[in-house]
Amino acid sequence: MSEKLLRISSLKTYYFSRKSVIKAVDDVSLEISRGEMVGLVGESGSGKSTLGLSIVKLVPPPGKIIDGRIILDGKDILKLSDKELRKIRGKRIGMIFQDPLTCLDPLRRIGDQIVETILTHLRIDKEDAREIAMKTLERVGIPSDRIDNYPHQLSGGMRQRAMIAMSIALDPELLIADEPTTALDVVVQSRIMDLLEDLRTERNMSILLITHDLALVIERSNRVVIMYGGKVCEIGLVKDIAEDPLHPYTKLLLQSIPDIEKIKTELKPIPGSPPDMRNPPPGCRFWPRCPYTLERCKDTEPNLTIIEGRVVACHLYRG
Ligand SMILES: Nc1ncnc2c1ncn2[C@@H]1O[C@H](COP(=O)(O)OP(=O)(O)O)[C@@H](O)[C@H]1O
Ligand code: SF4
Ligand SMILES: [Mg+2]
Repeated sequence: MSEKLLRISSLKTYYFSRKSVIKAVDDVSLEISRGEMVGLVGESGSGKSTLGLSIVKLVPPPGKIIDGRIILDGKDILKLSDKELRKIRGKRIGMIFQDPLTCLDPLRRIGDQIVETILTHLRIDKEDAREIAMKTLERVGIPSDRIDNYPHQLSGGMRQRAMIAMSIALDPELLIADEPTTALDVVVQSRIMDLLEDLRTERNMSILLITHDLALVIERSNRVVIMYGGKVCEIGLVKDIAEDPLHPYTKLLLQSIPDIEKIKTELKPIPGSPPDMRNPPPGCRFWPRCPYTLERCKDTEPNLTIIEGRVVACHLYRG
């Protein structure tokens, strides 16, 4: 599982307005191996979606990738032409979003939409593309006779599956799934996660699972990347993070997960609120909420450090 498919290094993606700069992704580095599911976790506004969009170079204005490298299988995505990028999107990298209606056209049959995606990338005739579309629908658990349905004729869970079908029809090596189950009930959520898991094991697909739900990631992923205020605070194997979190923010996130084993389940929200990204605190962005704040946390940013194979950015630890 160790062959690296994606390497992101020192990525900076900022949103510019006349009055301020939001450093939504600020010097982020991470790697994803082939066949690995990596969970990207953080509260709302921490820069997760911006990171996902950066990988396919689809950050909307006023956002801009200003520095860094995104290497897919040896090639720097940020150096590709628009034409080369279009070849990669959908074909080598698939994307699914929280709201299927952001990529399903409500006025067109789902089959036609999947066929169109296939035909943009493969030189095959329409009948063969329709064949692939039907197979893909079956693969995500939608009966193929639903191929001529419009999105509104499908349930929420089915629509989500249709969108997944669209993004995996061409067997991408990397799937970016941004809050793919947040809007769905627990049962449907679990089925969709099973489907992603099957894709990972059967197709050796790499998956970046973007979510605010650390419990989901612990249950389903191989590795976890924790983000706070545009920065990575900790990266680790699920087992290490769940059993022995290092970063204070990771600790608090874990404590906020209700313990289903115990009868008294109590969701402990993390005190305070996420930083104002137009004007984040100096030093460590987490210090105003951190129970362990040291003097130097307030003016000196902690760097990502490797200790005993673990990666963490916090002044409590020294490499
Ligand atoms: N289109 C945009 N224009 C300006 N600011 C944006 C835009 N999209 C996101 N942001 C800002 O970037 C930061 C990160 O947002 P986002 O990547 O959506 O975080 P997450 O997905 O973790 O909730 C937030 O402060 C958000 O307000
Ligand atoms: S660097 Fe300081 S403020 Fe930031 S998480 Fe570590 S101890 Fe807390
Ligand atoms: Mg988001």
